[in-house]
Amino acid sequence: MKHICLTIACVLPLISTFTSAQVTLQPKAGAPLAGLTLTQYEAFTIGALSYQTPLTIATGLGPAFNKGGCMSCHANPLGGWGAIAVTRFGMDEKGEFIDIPELGGSLLQAEAISQACREVLPPEASVTATRITNSSMAFGMIEAISDANISANADPSDDNVDGISGRVHWVLPLEDTAGSPLRAGRFGWKAQVATVLTFSGDASLNEMGLTNRLVPTENAPNGNAVLLSQCDTVADPEDGPDDSGKHFIDRVTDFQRFLGPPPQTPKTGMAGEVVFNAAGCASCHIASWTTSKSKSLEVALRGKTIRPYCDFLLHDMGTLGDGIQQGDATEQEFRTPTLWNLRSRDPMLHNGTAAGGLFADRVALAINAHGPFGEGAASAAAFEALSTGDRAAMIAFLDSLGRAEFDYDGDGVRDLEDFTILRGYAGVATNPNLPSAIGDVDQNGVINAVDATYFVQVIEGFGPMRDCNNNGIADLVDIFSATMPDADGDGQGDNCPAPCVGDFNADGVVDAADLATLLNAWGTAGGDLNADATTDAADIAVLLNGWGSCR
Ligand code: HEC
Ligand code: HEC
Repeated sequence: MKHICLTIACVLPLISTFTSAQVTLQPKAGAPLAGLTLTQYEAFTIGALSYQTPLTIATGLGPAFNKGGCMSCHANPLGGWGAIAVTRFGMDEKGEFIDIPELGGSLLQAEAISQACREVLPPEASVTATRITNSSMAFGMIEAISDANISANADPSDDNVDGISGRVHWVLPLEDTAGSPLRAGRFGWKAQVATVLTFSGDASLNEMGLTNRLVPTENAPNGNAVLLSQCDTVADPEDGPDDSGKHFIDRVTDFQRFLGPPPQTPKTGMAGEVVFNAAGCASCHIASWTTSKSKSLEVALRGKTIRPYCDFLLHDMGTLGDGIQQGDATEQEFRTPTLWNLRSRDPMLHNGTAAGGLFADRVALAINAHGPFGEGAASAAAFEALSTGDRAAMIAFLDSLGRAEFDYDGDGVRDLEDFTILRGYAGVATNPNLPSAIGDVDQNGVINAVDATYFVQVIEGFGPMRDCNNNGIADLVDIFSATMPDADGDGQGDNCPAPCVGDFNADGVVDAADLATLLNAWGTAGGDLNADATTDAADIAVLLNGWGSCR
């Protein structure tokens, strides 16, 4: 008896029947870009490993540093934002920032490989600022936006008199030689960096203490060279080529460049976006961009439309200013942050002051902080003046940024709980402003079997998809359509035999061939039988438990 959906035809039978327009499901936040070649996918995976591997003293950590690995700060999801803050410091002279590199400024390295080498906040530091770990995600996509496109939105003298005068932060990438044309900065709270590679080199040295080909000299703790010479035992540059000739900074760059954009669900059509635009938010948080069509870019990055809700420009944010001048960015200026992964972000704002509570509370705190002075003042006032209904609509829209399709309960995992909610909406008419719309992935205005068919492709922690009545349609879709009873809501038809757990090749018997499949998937989700997303000894136990014929 065939009772597992192994063919695409079984998982996707209805799409061709019901609709001509096929939907491409959006990758979850943290997933790689769609359309990578195998080589690029490998580069993403190996890069992710480097990104997650903490440095040791022997491999270049310190002497002074903040954390041992990129993931210690960029964890939500891997490569994303984090709650860890770093400190910048300098001197204030009548409101003007004075950098004091000779005392270790402007970034504090709060940790060291030995107590003696520790950098401390010097007594001369009269300005300090907190910077939360930010992340625009899909770094490769953002890098691929042309400088010309970014500067097309700049309006440094506010010629259109709308109170908003974004300007480009022109910077020289570390990998470019002196005198090369400046590039439009786009990464970092002050848009101080234009390329992913520069950030990798900069962060490797300044957050972790790894000298590399872009920044080959260690930071002396509080500028003290004698101390440095006593503490630094590894020859510089500490980073160097691996077996394939790639350096650590290249590896983590690969990972970040091939990281995909976060999803947005519903994709379009929310009333709250209209409110968002009307309140002037989109003057800075620009919804959509198309990446450059340059042939030098990988196909997966070229000419793609993304929705980061950002202009990558510097704005005078009034009292939100942190007193730090960085490159050309002034004490009051910040780059607009991307909003496309907002729903999970806690804390918000550069200094992390919009923190905790409900999503709606954090967002309201963040927006209120846009005023009363500076370029965000008018939209902060517009938000304050919204009716209760409009405010709720805007919050619901902001909450769609980063939400995965079908993730009704918003926990980031599409599982049986979400299926139960989807099933409850079977046949229901919907629109992007209703909660049900989260499952209307083809946006045709009704939650139907086509949507359920897509759900089957992404459900997590559910085991193999079955077709116990042998009708060529996945059982979950039959259950959704009420053509198969499932009174206990376990996602298995009530009249179906207990699932044949471990029968990977669907031959009706759990045997050595299935065990071999499981072993081949060791450490991945491929042979997972206990819904913990990995294949390990616990799964062998489950398989042995069901050993033998399942008929
Ligand atoms: C100690 C915590 C910490 C560590 C470790 C760390 N970062 Fe960051 N990262 C930050 C903070 C804080 C910011 C914001 C910096 C700013 O602009 O002031 C940031 C910003 C970034 C950005 C810019 C994000 C954006 O979209 O604007 C990139 C890219 C980045 N880091 C890459 C890395 C890489 C690669 C590593 C590892 C080599 C790394 N970071 C290690 C804290 C950290
Ligand atoms: C003048 C440009 C501008 C306008 C207009 C503007 N923002 Fe912002 N927004 C910014 C900047 C710059 C920041 C970062 C400020 C900081 O961290 O100190 C920011 C931060 C945010 C944050 C926090 C994001 C994070 O990741 O920390 C949210 C949420 C936000 N804005 C929403 C809105 C909404 C909603 C509106 C309209 C009511 C709006 N913004 C209008 C420029 C703008």
